[in-house]
Amino acid sequence: MTTVQFSEETYKKIQEIVQRYPEGKQKSALIPVLHIVQAEHQGWLDVPVMDHVAETLGILPVEVYEVASFYSMFNLTPVGKHVLYVCQTGPCMLLGSDKIMNHIKEKLNIEEGETTSDGLFTLKPAECLGACGYGPMLQLGETYRENLTIEKVDELLEELKKLG
Ligand code: FES
Repeated sequence: MTTVQFSEETYKKIQEIVQRYPEGKQKSALIPVLHIVQAEHQGWLDVPVMDHVAETLGILPVEVYEVASFYSMFNLTPVGKHVLYVCQTGPCMLLGSDKIMNHIKEKLNIEEGETTSDGLFTLKPAECLGACGYGPMLQLGETYRENLTIEKVDELLEELKKLG
């Protein structure tokens, strides 16, 4: 038995999600469950947390690891308070996502995959996020920031710095 415990609210949410699937198919709940658990654990999933997800769902730990390590929206190392996922796929690239990525790197003084020393920002490349007509774009939490320009990025970073 793992030593990790989730909040009461998280267990309740997990139960609600699991009930959407037929008996014995609780693995199907894994992606939404990982989102909830990741949000409760400062935006990332360590091995004990993933093991507890497996225990809670009654599946093998390796089944959790393979999903968590496959999808870029799950973080297996600590991240900053604000994680910027900049789309780097073709259509966004043609619309200038490289410029956006380089500008953020310069501005925050970090490389892709890194976190600022104040723990505020993590910068990550992302594959197509399904908003190709609105590129260049990035994902921030549950929101998309679209039709990005250098000015819009600067405004966003300032806004987030103010939030702390
Ligand atoms: Fe960027 Fe699809 S290519 S959202």
